[in-house]
Amino acid sequence: MLNANAPIGVMDAGLGGFTVVRELQKLLPREDIVYLGEGKYQPYGNRSEAEILHLTRQILTFLRGCGVKVVAVACNTISTLIEQYQPDFDFRIFSIVQAGADDVARLKPSEVGVLSTMFTAKTGQYARLIREKLPQTKVYAQGCPWLARIIEDGDFDQARIDTELRSTLGTLAAAHPSLSSLVLGCTHFPLVAENIRRLYPQFTQLINPAASQALMVRDYLEREKALRSDGSGSLRICTTSDPQVYRRMAGIVGLEKISSVELVPAPVPLTGQG
Ligand code: DGL
Repeated sequence: MLNANAPIGVMDAGLGGFTVVRELQKLLPREDIVYLGEGKYQPYGNRSEAEILHLTRQILTFLRGCGVKVVAVACNTISTLIEQYQPDFDFRIFSIVQAGADDVARLKPSEVGVLSTMFTAKTGQYARLIREKLPQTKVYAQGCPWLARIIEDGDFDQARIDTELRSTLGTLAAAHPSLSSLVLGCTHFPLVAENIRRLYPQFTQLINPAASQALMVRDYLEREKALRSDGSGSLRICTTSDPQVYRRMAGIVGLEKISSVELVPAPVPLTGQG
């Protein structure tokens, strides 16, 4: 039996997961949320599977220590490995990649691009999950090595953002001039949706899986009778990088009811992992 008064945990390699918190706050205003943004070893998307799993298990252990009733992995990169760490934890963990693939299945495009980190692109997991439901749909994965990191810096340096988009999304757009559906397959990317629209207006359908992931969490808690029936909601933001950047970005994203923004100890990396 889940404790309805326990907080919902949300985690990301960085602050991109704020885009999921925003949806959770809209949908579930009574809930308390604990966010862990592991920014110190970001970008995870350029790391190995062993490194990502090692860091992720420590983040989830931190959230377990906060007494969470459920965790939304608001990180596509980390979500691709969910089957490997879910068995180690007794609370339910939600993958944003599953939410994104479900969104595509509902929209039924004949072809779709997925803009993500390098790691997410390499796993091919979006293509696998989408094709389970839409076997005919063509899925084109495009990795971006640095976009999440540039956004994480928090200064929205337009020149750097546009240069990175041109060298990644530009390649995808040129190879598939009729492609119009694009999954924002990294939770940082909705924060630069305007840049994408301005540079590549061919993508008329930008798919942000954040709202679907929030719905998955709500539906599960409803089924388990573990939604809060009272309370006015709060948001505790924990970060392993710069709390000032996190506070400012939380304001820009429109997050509410922030009870604290705290610096917490970073996970211990694998030996030799910088
Ligand atoms: N927001 C994370 C994602 O959705 C970025 C991961 C990273 O490369 O650090 O994949």
